[in-house]
Amino acid sequence: MRSSRHERRSGHEEANGLSVSGEPRSTEQYSKRPPTRRPSAAPGNDTGDGYVDHETASDRNPYTGQPFSDLYYELEEKRRALPVYQARQRIVDAVRRHRVVVLQGETGSGKTTQVPRFLLEAGFQRVVCTQPRRIAAVSVATRVAQEMDVCLGDLVGYTIRFEDVSHPKRTRLKYVTDGMLLREAFQDHMLSRYDCILLDEAHERTLSTDVLMGLIKNILPVRPALHVVVMSATLERDHFTTYFNQAPLLDVSGRMYPVDIRYEKQPVMDYIRAVEEKVQYIHEQEPAGDILLFLTGEEEIEDMCQRLRYYSRTVAKRGLGPLHVLPLYSALPLSHQQRVFEPANPPGARKVVVATNVAETSLTIDGISYVIDPGFAKSKIYNPSTRVESLLVSPISQDSAKQRAGRAGRTRAGVCYRLYTEDAFRTELQERSYPEILRCNLCNVVLTLKKLGIDDLIHFDFMDPPAPDTMIRALETLFYLGALDENVALTPLGTQMAEFPLDVQITRMLVESPRYRCSEEAVTLAAMLSVPNVFVRPRYRADEADARKERFVVSDSDHATLVCVFEAFVKHDHDARWCSENFLNDRALLHAVNIRRQLASMLKQMGLPLCSPGIRAPDRWVRLRRCVLAGFLMQTAFWVRRRDYMTIRDEQVVGLHPSSVVRHRPAWVVFHEFVLTTGNYIRTVSQIEPEWLFELSTKYYDLTEYKDGASRRALELAAGLRKMRRHGTA
Ligand code: CDP
Ligand code: MG
Repeated sequence: MRSSRHERRSGHEEANGLSVSGEPRSTEQYSKRPPTRRPSAAPGNDTGDGYVDHETASDRNPYTGQPFSDLYYELEEKRRALPVYQARQRIVDAVRRHRVVVLQGETGSGKTTQVPRFLLEAGFQRVVCTQPRRIAAVSVATRVAQEMDVCLGDLVGYTIRFEDVSHPKRTRLKYVTDGMLLREAFQDHMLSRYDCILLDEAHERTLSTDVLMGLIKNILPVRPALHVVVMSATLERDHFTTYFNQAPLLDVSGRMYPVDIRYEKQPVMDYIRAVEEKVQYIHEQEPAGDILLFLTGEEEIEDMCQRLRYYSRTVAKRGLGPLHVLPLYSALPLSHQQRVFEPANPPGARKVVVATNVAETSLTIDGISYVIDPGFAKSKIYNPSTRVESLLVSPISQDSAKQRAGRAGRTRAGVCYRLYTEDAFRTELQERSYPEILRCNLCNVVLTLKKLGIDDLIHFDFMDPPAPDTMIRALETLFYLGALDENVALTPLGTQMAEFPLDVQITRMLVESPRYRCSEEAVTLAAMLSVPNVFVRPRYRADEADARKERFVVSDSDHATLVCVFEAFVKHDHDARWCSENFLNDRALLHAVNIRRQLASMLKQMGLPLCSPGIRAPDRWVRLRRCVLAGFLMQTAFWVRRRDYMTIRDEQVVGLHPSSVVRHRPAWVVFHEFVLTTGNYIRTVSQIEPEWLFELSTKYYDLTEYKDGASRRALELAAGLRKMRRHGTA
C-alpha cells in the first residue's frame, strides 16, 4: 500500500497519536536530545512513533533513504543560524498546548521556511501553510524541499492558482496561496485533511486570509484536533490575539541591526529618475553592499533594470565594479526569481534587486545593505458607488515604509533612502494599510462564503467587517449576474461560478461561452485579460508600434484584437524575436498561454465543452462580442455626444481609452474596465448591438428598474429600434 520509504518511516498514521486521538505528541518526546554534532545535522531517525532521534542520526535522509547531498549540509547550517531555530522548542510547545498561536517575527527570521517543518517533525500529519502571493508559495516550497533534501511535489509541495505541484497522499507539508486553501474548503468545509494550518503573512490582511480566519474560527470548536498558527511580521499584534480570543503571542524576532533612514529635502517629481540616480550615487559613493529597491509593477521594473544595466556597462570604463541587476515580480518565471537569492555574479559585483512589494515581507533576500523606497505601491481600490475596482499606484503606509526600511538591517547595519520628505512621511502616509476587505468588491467573498455553506453573511465574524454598502453592491451584482436568486441563495450558475478563481464577470463570460459556441475564443480572451498589457509602446517609437498593432486589429472590438494577438503568438511558436518586432510583450503572452491551458482544463473538468465557430467563420467575432456582453453585462455604455459615452445606470461620462482600436463611435459598447487617469476612460471595449441587451438572462435591463434619466431614455430608444426592426422583418 505504501510506496515510498519515507512513508514507512515517517508516515506513521497509526502509530502516532495525532490522527487517532486528536492529541499531538508530547513535547518531551520531540526534544529530549537536541542535535549536537554534524553531520547529525540530518533530521535524524524516526523511531516510528513520531519521535525524531537526532543522536542516532545517520548520513541518510529519513524521508528518502538517500545519502544527504552537499547542498543539504550547506543549507542546514544556514537554517540553524535563523532566530526561529533557537525558538523551535517554544514554538512546538506552544502550538501543542494551544489551539491558536500568534507568531510574530521580523522578516527573515525563518518563520515561513522553518515553522511548518518544525510542526511536521513534531508529529503533525498534514501541515498547510498559506501565502498571500503565488511567487512566495512557490519560492518557499522550493527552498524547503531543498533544505529537507527531498523532491519538490512529493513530501513537500505547493498549490497555487493554475498550478499544483503536490501529491494528494504523499505531500504532508504544503504551501498554498490563501485563495487556494479557501477553494479546498469548498469540497471540504472543515478542512479536515489538515491537522495544522499556518496562516502566514497575516499582517497583509488579504481578502482570502481574512475569510480564512473567520472560517477557521468557525471550524475550531468542531475540530478539536486542529491547531492553527497565525504568523505575521511585527505588526498589528494585538489585533490578531484579540480576534482569536486572547491567543498566546510568541515573538521570534532575531537581532536587527540599526538602519539609518535618509529622507529627501525636497519632494521628488519623477521617482523613476530619482531611483536611478540614487543607485548611481550609492554605487559611486557608498561602501560595498547590495541594494534593494521597490517599484510598483513589472513594466516599471523591467524598464529600470534596463537603465541600470546600461549604467553598469558605462561605469566599467571608469574602473568601478559592475552591477548585477535582478528583477523580482510575480509573473517572473521561477528560475529567474530564484536568482535573487544567489550571490552576485561576477563575484564582487554589487547586487541590485528591483522588486515589487513582494520583497517587503513575503520574500527575504539576505545581504541587503541599502534600501531605496520611493513610497509607492500598486493597490486595489474599490468604489462601491461606481462599482469600479482599480489597481492604482498609491502612496504606501508608514507601516509598509518601516517594513521596507527593515530589509536593510537584516545582516548588518544599513541605510534606507526614502525618496520623499520626512514631512511627507508624517503627514501624507497613512499610519497603516487598510485590509483588502475594506478596499475591494466583495462578489467573490460572497460567492465563496455561500459555497462554504455560510448563509448568514451579516454575522460572519470578519476581523474587520466590510462596509454594508459594499456588501449590498456585491449581492446586487451577483443577483444581476444570475449567481444568486431572489432569496439570496446560490443558483446552479452561481455554484459553477464559485469554482473559478477569477473575477465574477469573466467567470460568467466563460460559463456562458459554450452557449455562444465560442468557448475557445472566450478562454483565450480570459487569459489575455488576466495578464498585463501585451502591447509595448515605447515613447520614441510610438508610431511604429501603432502601425504594427494595426496588423492584429479587429476594428469593432479590443477583445477580438486580443484574441488575434494571442493566436498569432501561438502561430509563431511563442517566438520572442517576433514579439519584439511586433511590439508585443512576450513575457505577458507566455503567461497568457499558461493561464489559457489551465482555464481550458478547468472548463473541461466542469463539463463545459470547448468549441469554436472556426477561425474563418464570418460570425466569429459577433459571437465573441455577445459572449463578452453575457459576462460584462453590467458594464455597458452608450454614446452621448462627441467623444463622450455614458455608463449605464451609474451614468458616468467617460471616453474610450486612447489605446482602443474602436474608433468609429458605435452607439453602444461593452467594456472591461474603468480607468481613472487624467480623465475617465473605459478600456478594452467592444461594439454591441443594443437589442442584445434585451436578450440577456438578467433583470439588469428591465426598464422598470430605471428612473427617468439618460440611461432610461437610451434603453427606451434601443427597445423602440428593436421593435421597429422586428416589425420590419416580420
Ligand atoms: O518568513 P520569514 O520572513 O521569517 O523568513 P523566511 O522566509 O523563512 O526566510 C528565512 C531565510 O531563508 C532567509 O535568510 C532567506 O533569505 C532564506 N531563503 C532563501 O534563501 N531562499 C528562499 N527561496 C526562501 C528563503
Ligand atoms: Mg515569511
